[in-house]
Amino acid sequence: MKVTSKNIVVIGFMGSGKTEVSKILGKKLDRHVIEVDDLIIAKSKRKTINDIFEKDGETVFREFEIQASKDIKEVKKSIISTGGGAVMNKIIMDYYKENGEIVYLETSFHECAKRLEPFSDRPLFKNILAARKLFEFRRPLYDYYSDYMVNTNGKALEQVADETIRKVS
Ligand code: S3P
Repeated sequence: MKVTSKNIVVIGFMGSGKTEVSKILGKKLDRHVIEVDDLIIAKSKRKTINDIFEKDGETVFREFEIQASKDIKEVKKSIISTGGGAVMNKIIMDYYKENGEIVYLETSFHECAKRLEPFSDRPLFKNILAARKLFEFRRPLYDYYSDYMVNTNGKALEQVADETIRKVS
C-alpha cells in the first residue's frame, strides 16, 4: 500500500477522535504527529485551552489557531490533528491543504457527546444545545473541505485509523 506522501490532516467535530486516531496513524505510518491545540497552548503561555477561552477569549484563541496553522504550513509527511473549529476559517484550511490530504472523521452528534461526557474540558461543549447548533452549522464545512471521509460511529479507534490509511493510499 502506497500511502500519500502528503501530510494527513485530520478534521472533525469535538469528540470525533482526531487526537487518538492521529496518534495511531503516527505509530502505524512512522510519522510525526502535530497536535495543533498543543501548539496553541504553547503560544498562549496558558496551561489549557479552557484557560485561554476564559482569560483571553475565543477571538484570541482563534488568532493563535491561525498563527499555529501558518507555522506548520511547510511541514511534510506528518499527521496533523486539528482543532474542531479549523473549518470555520478558510485561511487555516488553505494552509492545511497546501501540503496535506484532509480526512474528515464523520461522527454523529450523539456519539461525540457520549465520548466527551462530562464535557468539562471543552469550552464549546459545556452547553449541549449550543454544541448541537455548532455541530449542525459546521457539518457542511467538514464535508466541503474534506478529501476523504471516514465514519467513526461505533468503531474502535484502531479500525478508524486503518480505514483512514486505506483511503489515503
Ligand atoms: C474547538 C475544538 C477544540 C479546541 C477548542 C475549540 C472547536 O479541539 O481547539 O476548544 O471550536 O471545536 P478538539 O476538536 O480537539 O476538541
